[in-house]
Amino acid sequence: MNNINQNTPPRHRLIPPEELEAQRRAAARIRSREDRPQTFFVVTYGCQMNAHDSELLAGQLREMGLTEAPDRESADFVLFNTCCVRDNAERKALGNITWLKEVRKRNPGLLIAVCGCMAQEPGMAEKLLRQYAFVNLVFGTSNLHRFPELFEEMLDSAAPVIRVDTEDVVAEGLPVSRLRREAAYVSIMYGCDNFCTYCIVPYVRGRERSREMADILREAEGLLESGAQEIMLLGQNVNSYGRGLAEKADFPGLLRALDRLGVPRIRFMTSHPKDLSDELIRVMGEAEHVLPQFHLPVQAGNDEILRRMNRHYDRETYLKKVRALREAVPGIGLTTDVMVAFPGETEEQFLDTLSLVDEVGYDSAFTFIYSPRVGTQAAKMPGQIPPDIARDRIERLIALQDRRQKEVMARFLGQEEEVLVESLSRRSGREVSGKGRHGLSITLPGCDRDVGRIVRVKVTGVKNNTLVGEREVRS
Ligand code: SAH
Ligand code: SF4
Ligand code: F3S
Repeated sequence: MNNINQNTPPRHRLIPPEELEAQRRAAARIRSREDRPQTFFVVTYGCQMNAHDSELLAGQLREMGLTEAPDRESADFVLFNTCCVRDNAERKALGNITWLKEVRKRNPGLLIAVCGCMAQEPGMAEKLLRQYAFVNLVFGTSNLHRFPELFEEMLDSAAPVIRVDTEDVVAEGLPVSRLRREAAYVSIMYGCDNFCTYCIVPYVRGRERSREMADILREAEGLLESGAQEIMLLGQNVNSYGRGLAEKADFPGLLRALDRLGVPRIRFMTSHPKDLSDELIRVMGEAEHVLPQFHLPVQAGNDEILRRMNRHYDRETYLKKVRALREAVPGIGLTTDVMVAFPGETEEQFLDTLSLVDEVGYDSAFTFIYSPRVGTQAAKMPGQIPPDIARDRIERLIALQDRRQKEVMARFLGQEEEVLVESLSRRSGREVSGKGRHGLSITLPGCDRDVGRIVRVKVTGVKNNTLVGEREVRS
């Protein structure tokens, strides 16, 4: 492990301009090299934070003069931005990295790099060196801002380059190549201080640190000027935004400031129930541009399990916050993360989770089987649940959520919704899909000109957990 735990004092370093300048110079040197790869492809696993990191990595690759290849088979440089939150995420990444070794047989010049959370896992760099020696570069989440220098080192070195520091950093002003222009990710904080006993994130992403509010507002202003319709604020626990900043700031205050800027749609993830304040609930009700949706991971519905997960709330407190949110924002779209088969979970405790999911009635839920992660406290707990019981529990949970979801979604029938159109349906070519204000996916008749625009619809049906809309007025 990084040798950190909840008693380690948090500390972080803002990367000074000279260091970023050195990276820009490295990028310029790479651009003028004849022996550099011409094209890249980034393969991303994991959460939105990783997706945004990939946008920053792609931004730096473009600075180095590379252009994006249509797929990984035809790229000269492939970067795997990995996740390790569950064992299957890790296995998938390792499987795909191995498969690329075959591609190299046809394309001997292919360079392969691995970064992200899995690379930052203790012992992983050594494992990659041993078992995946064909990988050219490995770097951790704390080295993202040094990518050009590491890339240059890789070009100059026959042996794999490995750089997995554990310093907690904040880097401002990195080049970014956004996947979508109309809906942009904005990180507001990094790392996590919560140390939920099952979770590896604090170990691979470091201690919690926030960006200065002025830097976030500047980024949002730029996005607004370039036509963004929506910004998604990112952090492992956005509700605790601002802790440790010299200039006093908190999440409700940040939301109010962004609301005043006039970004048409503001969303955020993820919220930790223990830090969901009355003031945040008030802002949800008052701020015009903050969308009526809330992702509030519950993890479990049983108090004893929640305590052993180190979640710092109980079932009733959680439900009280849900009620308060619904009162402040009638019809709010609620989503969650739920886990089954935490060590020692009994059938009765699992039934508490089922009854909570039934009681809340979520618009959608991400459901997971607990996966032991080396170095976390829960991995050492007695009572690890056998896979057949875990499977049975998740199936019952999914069945319940599916049934509740259909009922919950029916509330939209006949209602008007505003959809930010994300994509053209590949199948029909005459349908588009996007997200409503409450966070649900909606399909509607349309064409490629609609992509990136906000369109009003009347909801006429529900199909496979997606709402179906008819167009009303073009906006
Ligand atoms: N910071 C966010 C989410 C982080 S990871 C939060 O606290 O809600 C996303 C989800 O993955 C978690 O909410 C949790 O449900 C799940 N998860 C994390 N560690 C896990 C593990 N070891 N096994 C199974 N699911 C896990
Ligand atoms: Fe993991 Fe808990 Fe932090 Fe979320 S809040 S990232 S689940 S430790
Ligand atoms: Fe995975 Fe890292 Fe996100 S472990 S869930 S990519 S923070």
